[in-house]
Amino acid sequence: MVEVRLRVNGADEPLDIQPQVSLLDALREHLGLTGTKKGCDQGACGACTVLADGERINSCLALAVQYEGREITTIEGIDHPLQAAFVRHDGFQCGYCTPGQICSAVGMLAEHKEGMPSAVTGQASGGELSPAEIRERMSGNLCRCGAYNGIIEAIREVAR
Ligand code: FES
Ligand code: FES
Repeated sequence: MVEVRLRVNGADEPLDIQPQVSLLDALREHLGLTGTKKGCDQGACGACTVLADGERINSCLALAVQYEGREITTIEGIDHPLQAAFVRHDGFQCGYCTPGQICSAVGMLAEHKEGMPSAVTGQASGGELSPAEIRERMSGNLCRCGAYNGIIEAIREVAR
């Protein structure tokens, strides 16, 4: 066991865990924050997306011990216009992917604002987000219900 002091949604969360425990399992199994979902547990679906110091990460690929001292934000700590926009635009069906979609979109909008380019924009980033660019920037988040059109519209609305 190792002692880890995580900081999650603005609170200090000391934990005694095995060093191989993923950040996803620390959040869900040890802290009871089950909003973050486990889809594939191997970095392929994005259901486990959380923010670390405002940057989106797949928490299933992160060891909890590596994130000591970082500011982790899960869906339980998010209060963002995207949430209401997802409801308005039917950006979900079963909702399993939704926490990851929202966390990822929050991180993506910040990346775009900072001028980080995408494969669609090339080097000239920073303009209005097109549906194609949103699809590319959100391509790490899968939705098995196929609610992509609503997700894109929700993100477009907030981006505008
Ligand atoms: S559960 Fe982490 S990417 Fe699928
Ligand atoms: S809403 Fe069901 S997986 Fe996306």
